[in-house]
Amino acid sequence: MKPILVTLAVAGLVAGAVHAAKAADGKEIYAKKCAMCHGAGKKAGDLLASKLSHADFTKYTKDPKSMNPKSTMPSFKGTDEELNAVVEYSMGMKK
Ligand code: HEC
Repeated sequence: MKPILVTLAVAGLVAGAVHAAKAADGKEIYAKKCAMCHGAGKKAGDLLASKLSHADFTKYTKDPKSMNPKSTMPSFKGTDEELNAVVEYSMGMKK
């Protein structure tokens, strides 16, 4: 195999792995930090039914009181990457 092809193959594998890890994170974070309130049949409801835009959903997750002063939801603590992953998972953009 020519070196350029090897490089491309390795880059493809790395990109695929990073992608998979991110999707898995969202699911894991949701299970740990959201499902106890937003899981099926729970009081806070299923987030898939939310009509918020991606930007507002992210804002709500990060700082619920900025969107709803009466919110009883705790604000999300984590990195922006984790926030993004959990938002995408919660909105049903990633499984
Ligand atoms: C302690 C319970 C609790 C936890 C944990 C929790 N939520 Fe919530 N969430 C609520 C409640 C209750 C509401 C309804 C209004 C309010 O009080 O903010 C809500 C509302 C929301 C909304 C607004 C939906 C809409 O359409 O108005 C979003 C978005 C949301 N939660 C995302 C999340 C995400 C993502 C997580 C996990 C990182 C999470 N929540 C964790 C209780 C919780």
